[in-house]
Amino acid sequence: MEKLVISGGKALRGTVRISGGKNSSLAIITAACLAPGVSVLENVPMCRDVVTLAAILEALGARIELQGGRMTIDARQMTTHVAPYELCRQMRASFYTAGILLGRLHRAQVPLPGGCVIGSRPVDFHLRGFTALGALVEIEHGYMKATVDRLAGTTFFVPRSSVGTTINLMLAASRASGATVLENAAREPEVVDTAVFLNLLGAHIKGAGTNAITIEGADELHGASYAIIPDRLEAGTYLLAAAATGGDVLVAQMIPEHISALLAKLEESGATVDRGTDGVRVRAGGIHRGVQLDTAPYPGFATDLHPPFAAVLAMADGASRIRETVFESRFGYVDELRRMGADIRAEGDSALISGVPYLTGAPVEAVDIRGGAAVLIGALAARGVTEIATLANLDRGYEQVEQKLSALGADIRRVDVRGGEILTAPVA
Ligand code: UD1
Repeated sequence: MEKLVISGGKALRGTVRISGGKNSSLAIITAACLAPGVSVLENVPMCRDVVTLAAILEALGARIELQGGRMTIDARQMTTHVAPYELCRQMRASFYTAGILLGRLHRAQVPLPGGCVIGSRPVDFHLRGFTALGALVEIEHGYMKATVDRLAGTTFFVPRSSVGTTINLMLAASRASGATVLENAAREPEVVDTAVFLNLLGAHIKGAGTNAITIEGADELHGASYAIIPDRLEAGTYLLAAAATGGDVLVAQMIPEHISALLAKLEESGATVDRGTDGVRVRAGGIHRGVQLDTAPYPGFATDLHPPFAAVLAMADGASRIRETVFESRFGYVDELRRMGADIRAEGDSALISGVPYLTGAPVEAVDIRGGAAVLIGALAARGVTEIATLANLDRGYEQVEQKLSALGADIRRVDVRGGEILTAPVA
């Protein structure tokens, strides 16, 4: 029951440090539970999805502590193969528990997952992969139930580029007998990060980052220590916020190559982008040109950065078109930006944007994680005050968002909707 209250129109200036990757963390924290040992992860972001996942894994028997970005996962005991229904429904990455339970306990009962409403988001590829590895899979009462004597290595062609399928099958195949080859595997940095960590646990994975990944099953896995890569989607969000407000921001502690497609489009829209080894500085005069882009699997333009970029383009000089090729209905943010005066319509697979000179503050909702980022960026640039409700969606993916933005000069505070109590005051 909280909302963000933002008084817009202030150019962001300064340096912001990027947290560890949310999506990488979700995969790697789960991966740690594949091994009957203790793992220590650094650079874990304290966002809601991470907290929810920790609760899910604790319900399976793991013991987890998170303090200041360091997570200790004691996975020596996995006491049940049944994942908790209500928690798993909250996020799609909960389905990674299927991979570890099948690999480690040879049976899994995992709810069909929920998550952002951005399309039908089935798990049919995951299920086909588990079946190819020898599991008997059925859907009953909202759960996937799968059993196997022991998973057996196979060759599996992932029907279309899927991050979740690639990671889930890497997890399961790491405990299979023999070799598994994943063809048409996803190449996202989060897939590579997960493979690197699995190898530290004792797995034998080659080819992560290419379309063909080979996983040689391992009998013995053990705990390991690892630092999660920076969150490329959080980094992209701050770069876009800087551009939208006509600011000058150094986004530090990130890997620029992970968002090359975004940086190219930012430059095309008129921003000045300086790439360093572990940071990117963006300077923008406040006027942007319209651009055309298609989202695509990595290394293409990330689908998660489509809604926040749409917020920038809503204030561009000219028309833009964003064609969404990964998810079928990632357009929930469109109505929210329209409340702020944007001229956007969703037509088929595209968002058609006619730039307007400025947005105006309005009461809006964070419809999903990146839809929340879109209204946040709109609010930071808009004239007047914006109130963002349904904040839990934004909090799923962003750590300390109001603290980071306050430090860059934004006028932003979090209030309790019932009492109006200010929970976080601006830093400066
Ligand atoms: C992950 C990311 C998400 C990102 C997406 C694409 C996490 C927690 N989430 O989601 O932020 O937007 O990758 O980069 O890491 N599909 C099927 N059947 C399946 C699996 C996928 O049809 O069994 C479809 C999906 O509906 C979608 C496409 O394949 O249209 C790609 O989805 P996928 O890459 O699997 O996304 P997620 O792993 O869910």
